[in-house]
Amino acid sequence: MKQNIQKVIDKAVRKHELTREEIIVLLSCEFFHKNSLFVAANRVREKYLGDAVHLRGLIEFSNYCRRNCSYCGLQCANKKLKRYRMSMKEIYQAALGAYALGYRTIVLQSGEDFYYDADKIADLVRRIKKLGLAVTLSCGVRSFEEYRLWREAGADRYLLKHETADPALYQTLHPDSSFSERLEALIHLRRLGYQVGSGCIVGLPGQTLESLADDLLFLKALDVEMAGIGPFIPHPDTPLMSFPQGSAEMVLKMVAVLRLLLPLAHLPATTALATVGNDFRAQALRCGANVIMPNVTPRKYRQLYAIYPHKAGVKDTPVKSRQQIVEMITALGRKIATDQGHSPKEKFCQAVS
Ligand code: 5AD
Repeated sequence: MKQNIQKVIDKAVRKHELTREEIIVLLSCEFFHKNSLFVAANRVREKYLGDAVHLRGLIEFSNYCRRNCSYCGLQCANKKLKRYRMSMKEIYQAALGAYALGYRTIVLQSGEDFYYDADKIADLVRRIKKLGLAVTLSCGVRSFEEYRLWREAGADRYLLKHETADPALYQTLHPDSSFSERLEALIHLRRLGYQVGSGCIVGLPGQTLESLADDLLFLKALDVEMAGIGPFIPHPDTPLMSFPQGSAEMVLKMVAVLRLLLPLAHLPATTALATVGNDFRAQALRCGANVIMPNVTPRKYRQLYAIYPHKAGVKDTPVKSRQQIVEMITALGRKIATDQGHSPKEKFCQAVS
């Protein structure tokens, strides 16, 4: 068995492909093998992407949401949460501030809030792009036409996590949407030429190792440019309040295996991971991750974007968030990327063709 696991790791390093069974073997490994897996993922990251860590400034511009995802504190059934919407001017100012701090990408994220219609978002994208920032949108499921308008306005990337690739589990957690709707949205984004980001939650009630393996195979099949993986964190004002938190160790293994499967993808060390333990973000950077998304949302709104409780960095200013992250990256012997951090996929394909 011992030798088998090493064989599976070696195969993944060579071919960047694994079967469902092989992924399950890696996700189950412990001690010595877990260490070998992390070392292999770190080497693959180093070989394909180098030492640079990309920082994306995250602006959480509205916590209104039309959905009722049962794990999320922003779900519309949560009447305890004070809701906010940033004005166009506030969002633009936050982007300006992010640029001044050195960010070259911002992520505009919100609940599914149709107050911001297609034109409002397109307008924002156009103005922010003029600052010299790459723009990632993360506003949930919208129509093909809306995605098209935003892409034409200059949006570079779109983040839409698939959350879980198990359609039955997806249905129990998302009473008002379906996995096929999510998949269709991701396919629309792909067709429109976005750099596509997706990802999943680890430790959801009812989730199995098989379904986690399917999450990785789903991300591989979609050949995503970005993928965020974080632990489930129970929120006290949701139906899942009494379920246990997801395992950070399992998240790290998922990141490492995904790095072997998708050597060129941007993989963030997620805020959810930092929330369950201060050191996990650094650990993720050492087993395949190469992106961090520090928060640049104005302080007065930050704690209201409560997708899960005690979110890391919620009390820090944008300056402090960045400072701490830069220190951590430097201590690891890595450096901060200074470019817009587009997917290296195209460049790489040109180089090998
Ligand atoms: N625990 C962990 N992750 C969560 N998200 C939302 N609620 C939770 C939670 N309770 C994640 C989802 C979503 C992203 C913005 O936050 O993956 O896509």
